[in-house]
Amino acid sequence: MAASKVSFILFLTFTFVPFLQYAESTVPQQEVEAVVSILAAMNATSWRFNGDNCNLDTVSEVPKLSQDANASIGCNCNTENDTDCHVVTITHRFYSLDGVLSPLLANLPFLRSFDVAYNYLQGTIPPEWGLTQLQEISLLGNRLTGEIPPELGNITSLKRLNLEANRFSGTIPPDLGRLTNLQSLILSSNQLTGRLPITLGQLVNLTNFRINENNFSGSIPDFIQNWRLLYRLEIVASALTGPIPSNISLLESLTDLRISDITGPSQQFPPLTNAVGLIRLILRNCNISGELPDYIWQVRELELLDTSFNNLVGRISSNFLRTNISLIEDLPRDQLRIWQLFNDASLFLANHSKNEGP
Ligand SMILES: *[C@@H]1O[C@H](CO)[C@@H](O)[C@H](O)[C@H]1NC(C)=O
Ligand SMILES: *[C@@H]1O[C@H](CO)[C@@H](O)[C@H](O)[C@H]1NC(C)=O
Ligand SMILES: *[C@@H]1O[C@H](CO)[C@@H](O)[C@H](O)[C@H]1NC(C)=O
Ligand SMILES: *[C@@H]1O[C@H](CO)[C@@H](O)[C@H](O)[C@H]1NC(C)=O
Ligand SMILES: *[C@@H]1O[C@H](CO)[C@@H](O)[C@H](O)[C@H]1NC(C)=O
Ligand SMILES: *[C@@H]1O[C@H](CO)[C@@H](O)[C@H](O)[C@H]1NC(C)=O
Ligand SMILES: *[C@@H]1O[C@H](CO)[C@@H](O)[C@H](O)[C@H]1NC(C)=O
Ligand SMILES: *[C@@H]1O[C@H](CO)[C@@H](O)[C@H](O)[C@H]1NC(C)=O
Ligand SMILES: *[C@@H]1O[C@H](CO)[C@@H](O)[C@H](O)[C@H]1NC(C)=O
Ligand SMILES: *[C@@H]1O[C@H](CO)[C@@H](O)[C@H](O)[C@H]1NC(C)=O
Repeated sequence: MAASKVSFILFLTFTFVPFLQYAESTVPQQEVEAVVSILAAMNATSWRFNGDNCNLDTVSEVPKLSQDANASIGCNCNTENDTDCHVVTITHRFYSLDGVLSPLLANLPFLRSFDVAYNYLQGTIPPEWGLTQLQEISLLGNRLTGEIPPELGNITSLKRLNLEANRFSGTIPPDLGRLTNLQSLILSSNQLTGRLPITLGQLVNLTNFRINENNFSGSIPDFIQNWRLLYRLEIVASALTGPIPSNISLLESLTDLRISDITGPSQQFPPLTNAVGLIRLILRNCNISGELPDYIWQVRELELLDTSFNNLVGRISSNFLRTNISLIEDLPRDQLRIWQLFNDASLFLANHSKNEGP
């Protein structure tokens, strides 16, 4: 039935060009079939894709789990001499879908964004995705397992890859170092192991790198210094060890730096004089000793400072006049806590003994 409709429309299109060219664009049958399969695999049975107008029609009631729930398919129609519509985005966020990921993304040559964050999707990432030309993949917050397929390294168009909060295991494939357009790589809250492959040092366009809550091995690699555009770096409880490379000083664009729970030799406070735009700085339980440097009080936008569970000494600089600090002194002898809540800014500085644990 769908096929006859399509040929009817094609007939109209050829007959009445240019009058009906825009009104009658449809999605090619191969792409319609791919979308139908992709939805079926994910168990998205409450929706039907209408290739005649590129709509995702709701066919039965769907409980809305969040205000941010969004099921939509986006097409790009009538580009120059091409009268077809092509599927460019698939979004299915916050719908408790409990199915699997389909390899047929590879049959959508124009697909640029695939976002299925916050469902209960299971199974693995199909290696066939390596044949896509995606720019964005978000699988955030599902129950996906298995290893990250090395084939993802073939999607050189990729700008954003978010695999956070799943059950991915194994090591990061070195092939991801080929994704030189990558700006955002988020792998937090999985069960990833092994060292960070040295090839990741090639990802000079990275602005956002987050690998919190994994079970990596080895130390924080020196190559993070290559990521000069980085504004967000999060290595919280990743099982990587210290020290924090001193060339972190080269990352001048940092606004969010969060590192915690690294073992390894004691080190001085990392050199962050160049990171003048810091907004949030967490260096918790990093075996840092010595003075808390004075310049930290002059970082203009700093909203959050957490240097707890280290062996830092120092006091709040008299230069630090822009905020309203409340000092709570009646704490156990070996602890100094300064809490400050003012203009949405919060400051937490603690001097717990490191043996106490976080
Ligand atoms: C749903 O997602 C699509 C594709 O990402 C986007 O264009 C659209 O604005 C979103 N809709 C809402 C209501 O957020
Ligand atoms: C349109 O046609 C021209 C000339 O045949 C071709 O070079 C161009 O790639 C076509 N554009 C699209 C979007 O197909
Ligand atoms: C999909 O839905 C069917 C019917 O509701 C169910 O039996 C099945 O377990 C679901 N999950 C998968 C992965 O197919
Ligand atoms: C895709 O990636 C795999 C693993 O990295 C590689 O062996 C294969 O040759 C690549 N395929 C293409 C078509 O580039
Ligand atoms: C970084 O991104 C820019 C803009 O997208 C691109 O032109 C450049 O080739 C990328 N860098 C590398 C090393 O690929
Ligand atoms: C993390 O990996 C180490 C081996 O490197 C292993 O001994 C340990 O049990 C793992 N921890 C978790 C929580 O998986
Ligand atoms: C740190 O950066 C400087 C200046 O770019 C460079 O000469 C040095 O080799 C780097 N150190 C390491 C350990 O990479
Ligand atoms: C902290 O550094 C000291 C001195 O280098 C070292 O003996 C100790 O084992 C380190 N602690 C941790 C938890 O790595
Ligand atoms: C921080 O703790 C260390 C060791 O417990 C202590 O020697 C030092 O005086 C404390 N610093 C401050 C400012 O309380
Ligand atoms: C600082 O906070 C105290 C207590 O909240 C308040 O009474 C005082 O006016 C504040 N000072 C300034 C300069 O905002």
